[in-house]
Amino acid sequence: MCGIVAYLGKKQAYPLIVDGLRKLEYRGYDSSGVAVLDENLSVFKKKGKVNDLVNFVNKENGDTSGTIAMGHTRWATHGEPNDKNAHPHLSGNGEIALIHNGIIENYATLKNALIDLGHEFKSDTDTEVLVHLIEEIQKKGNLSIEDAVRKSLEKVVGAYAIVVIDKKSPDILIGARNSSPLVFGLGDDEFFLGSDASPIIKYTNKVIYLEDEDVITINRNGDYKIVNLQNKTSTHQIKELDLKIEELEKGGFDHFMLKEIYQQPATIEQSMRGRINAAEGWAILGGMSKHMNRISKSKRIILMACGTSWHSALIGEYLFEEIARIPTEVEYASEFRYRNPIITEDDFVIALSQSGETADTLAAIELAKEKGAFVYGIVNVVGSSIARLTDAGSYIHAGPEIGVASTKAFTSQVSILSLMALYLGHERGKISGGDYRELLTALEVIPQKVEEILDQNDHIKSIATEIKNASNALYLGRGYNFPVALEGALKLKEISYIHAEGYPAAEMKHGPIALIDMYMPVVVIATNQSAYEKIVSNIQEVKARKGIVIAIINEDDTIIREMADFFVEIPTTAEPLSPLLSVIPLQLLSYHIALMRGCNVDQPRNLAKSVTVE
Ligand code: AGP
Ligand code: GLU
Repeated sequence: MCGIVAYLGKKQAYPLIVDGLRKLEYRGYDSSGVAVLDENLSVFKKKGKVNDLVNFVNKENGDTSGTIAMGHTRWATHGEPNDKNAHPHLSGNGEIALIHNGIIENYATLKNALIDLGHEFKSDTDTEVLVHLIEEIQKKGNLSIEDAVRKSLEKVVGAYAIVVIDKKSPDILIGARNSSPLVFGLGDDEFFLGSDASPIIKYTNKVIYLEDEDVITINRNGDYKIVNLQNKTSTHQIKELDLKIEELEKGGFDHFMLKEIYQQPATIEQSMRGRINAAEGWAILGGMSKHMNRISKSKRIILMACGTSWHSALIGEYLFEEIARIPTEVEYASEFRYRNPIITEDDFVIALSQSGETADTLAAIELAKEKGAFVYGIVNVVGSSIARLTDAGSYIHAGPEIGVASTKAFTSQVSILSLMALYLGHERGKISGGDYRELLTALEVIPQKVEEILDQNDHIKSIATEIKNASNALYLGRGYNFPVALEGALKLKEISYIHAEGYPAAEMKHGPIALIDMYMPVVVIATNQSAYEKIVSNIQEVKARKGIVIAIINEDDTIIREMADFFVEIPTTAEPLSPLLSVIPLQLLSYHIALMRGCNVDQPRNLAKSVTVE
């Protein structure tokens, strides 16, 4: 979490940094700040959005001239979001400025030692401790700024991506990372550091992804050096990105979330491109086929993820067990490594992550690898830490997802999991030829069906009007649609701040039914053919207690449409693929409700797009 951008070159840096911060704002948005070095080192910081910072700088008529600068948009871990805790932080002598993404876990010990040496701190952050430590080590050893940064980092426990500017070395930009991402962009006579490529791609597509414990020193003359904490030089390959700037813009939509919801016919298709051909009767994933020797020996699949990706993983469990007949477990990545899990070389571990940077998921992968399991990544962001850490994997190719609430990544993850299950089921001879072909055909036409659901946006918006003032909501689903109920509830919670719970429909009577009254909207995903009558009974139970039923039904449904207060019809598909359709109206419903409640849909309070701290 938090966005970092820095520039060293010939242009005036401030406008570039502000532009970059706007691109990175999805990563953190409780406060932001910039430092620009010219004759003076000027620092501006403000609570709130990047716009608040820009207005503040304009109002103060701040001197922003300089060709070396850095900016930060924060998601607070230590210290409340306010002006003084915003980054950049300065050393005691005011000469060194630092921005940081991550957590310095041993900050308290370091801080006490520095206080004993006479340092005074202005903020409550862990970050400020690091810049004082660099100053202390530089002064004590009479060191260059790069050596001082490196030696300070040797003393740090925790996660960081940092950028440092030192007034005494005006032609040098320093960056370092451990567990938090940092990308180095190489333009013509200009250089960038960023948390991701989004603030860089406008200027260059040549990048180097820094590795853990890398320290990079970039010189204005174009020389750059990457060393590890032991000062050993390492060489990194320059990669050419094929990210397009339009992918980072709203493209005529009011919000990124809406754009991303509407992209789903295209992104689902993109996730399957070259990986399926129903007419020829095959589904294959290159990342898997190369490792089938290893994968086919596995006795169990373990899926690991957080948040929305965890909901995809739950659908994966249903798919792998039903189609490939492989025992499957789903783990919250954050819980996994703290409970001495049983995991062996016989396990096939699949980690799912949109960002590829989620700290909890990274830590769980590391543990699984230590225990000898084969780890496969299903990731969106190309070149991300999880993509690089896993033994093999498949990109979902959904393109940048900027809205904090994940939408298109979810459906693309589920489409990849469906392909994997089909591939494994077929290879293992666990699915009949007929069922295999039927599912392949159904999967191929999912994008058109998603399109049909999107056409009902106005109808879904009218339902949102009816329930927008609720304080609570229940989401119910069975089988493949139970994880969709969880996902629908999460979407509502995170962007509209309405308390919502997802439940297996049949579980409702074991407790949550006590909550139902005439004010409680109950969204029931009722597309399952297999448990149809049971869902009808569950709806009756809600109606008997005056709950407001919003049902997601198949287009040929005749019974539930008569019982529900509101319904959304969706095209029929094979049951294992139904989440790919049933989630779409729930995404739109939460979008409209949040908007009607005046919430910031793309940047909901307290959240950040990727959670790079544990
Ligand atoms: C989704 O809407 C959330 N904002 C969040 O739960 C997210 O899915 C979770 O943090 C995992 O992120 P990842 O997929 O990037 O690993
Ligand atoms: N731990 C630092 C802070 O709270 C950095 C947080 C971030 O990554 O934005 O200021």
